[in-house]
Amino acid sequence: MQSNNDFDRVINRNDSLAIKYAARKAVFGREDILPMWVADMDFSSPEFVLDALRKRLEHPILGYTLRPESFYKAYQQWAKRRYGFEVELDWLTFSPGVVSALALSVLSYTEPGDKIIIQPPVYPPFFETVKGLGRELVINPLRRDVDGRYYINFDDLRTKVNQRTKLLIISNPHNPVGRTWTPDELEELAQIALENNLLIISDDIHADFVYKDYKYTPVASLSEQIAQITVIATSPSKTFNIPGLSTSVVIIPNDELRKKYNEKLKAAHLWLGNIFGNIALETAYNNGDQWLDSLLLYLEQNVDYAVQFIRNNIPAIKVWRPEATFLLWLDFSATGMTHEQIKHKLINEARVGLNDGTDFGEQGEKFFRMNIAAPRAVITDGLERLKAAFG
Ligand SMILES: Cc1ncc(COP(=O)(O)O)c(C=O)c1O
Repeated sequence: MQSNNDFDRVINRNDSLAIKYAARKAVFGREDILPMWVADMDFSSPEFVLDALRKRLEHPILGYTLRPESFYKAYQQWAKRRYGFEVELDWLTFSPGVVSALALSVLSYTEPGDKIIIQPPVYPPFFETVKGLGRELVINPLRRDVDGRYYINFDDLRTKVNQRTKLLIISNPHNPVGRTWTPDELEELAQIALENNLLIISDDIHADFVYKDYKYTPVASLSEQIAQITVIATSPSKTFNIPGLSTSVVIIPNDELRKKYNEKLKAAHLWLGNIFGNIALETAYNNGDQWLDSLLLYLEQNVDYAVQFIRNNIPAIKVWRPEATFLLWLDFSATGMTHEQIKHKLINEARVGLNDGTDFGEQGEKFFRMNIAAPRAVITDGLERLKAAFG
């Protein structure tokens, strides 16, 4: 299978309405910013995926289209090949996006006023979805050690659970802190969930971005009992840089939970999805191993390069080497500046567009998130800009 792994190629995205580029003025107040924020990649999607989409376009009608069983089989085989995760076809269902799957889970398993736990700093839509659907957010912040590694705070979690607490939404691997939770950590979490009748909703969209020496553990793989209280939402969208196709897979081993989820999916008429997304998912999962392996090597080199560069040249920025994800969670607290001063300097002096850490919860004060899924030359440009402003 062809692998177009020319990850060094700089591709102009200015003409594509890519949010990362087109929303710079709206988000940063100016256009002349090197965008290293939105979590998609500046690499081409694999040529074999693009070819499959082109082939579909040879048919002149883009009508309502079935999602074949081979769509789910592609994920089933991918999960087995890459993670040894055995899923039954019956467990699998659909969502346009992973965030929509979280929202549908909230609607399926909770009532307005119920409590839902999240673990910030965490991906901003976790807050927005829970609050937007009228459920009550309960915050179980992650703990951070002196080296910058984050852990789940189980003691705090135990104190936060009561009768109204229904769901625990986790990010595995975790955006933005770059941990891939270990089996032990997930077991302890699941134990708390089992003892307190909580369901675990696990957002595993970054599962394919785990670096060597680390491993992705799907929470539902731990035991049959844990699988029965778990919903996992995942997608090839980050992995193969196709998030604009809005196509995800949801794994729900428990029949009753899956039935409830599918009712909401149907009610919102979201089950149809997108014909291009169906084709891209199936093609990518069936043929994407080699491409992904090359990508992971490239990304890991970017991670090492960026981490070393920052440690050697910008002592005011602290960085922990992520185990997973293409995101660096940068700690600017040693600059001695306020959050707003740091942000102002990033935008107006460094001219680099990073995600504002406070969007990930108040735990993100003085943190900014940097996306390193770009050609090395772009990473170098971004790092040099940071060095000039903060070094
Ligand atoms: C943790 C996490 N979940 C979900 C998403 C987005 O998923 P989707 O576009 O499928 O809703 C992202 C994108 O950045 C993410 O980082």
